[in-house]
Amino acid sequence: MSTLVAKSQHRWVGLALRRRWAPAAPPPAISTLPSEPVVPSKQPFKAELQGGKRYSWCTCGHSKKQPFCDGAHKFKARGLSPLRFLPEKDATVWLCGCKYTNNPPYCDGTHKQDFVVSAALYEPTDS
Ligand code: FES
Repeated sequence: MSTLVAKSQHRWVGLALRRRWAPAAPPPAISTLPSEPVVPSKQPFKAELQGGKRYSWCTCGHSKKQPFCDGAHKFKARGLSPLRFLPEKDATVWLCGCKYTNNPPYCDGTHKQDFVVSAALYEPTDS
């Protein structure tokens, strides 16, 4: 019986020491969730596209060359990247400016929904 008590006390001391000397909890992980796009325009952009030419449509809303990408996502919206597309033929289209279309890169009327209408309009800055 005394051997059993001694073993259990030894185990308790061992656990107490491990807790005391255990390393601190790791720092909280940085979120890897993609950024949400900002709303640079509440209207679509009319664009005359050339067939066979490659375009990069801005998905983050931070570009100063709307509706096209200028690389701003690399610094302001990590996790988002431009949508690259290649029209088959010349066409005049309406490219989404609110960045919430369900048919990217084309406007589908989502900009008329309340969450876009009431959203703050993004103004690009130099920083
Ligand atoms: S401008 Fe985005 S859906 Fe029309």
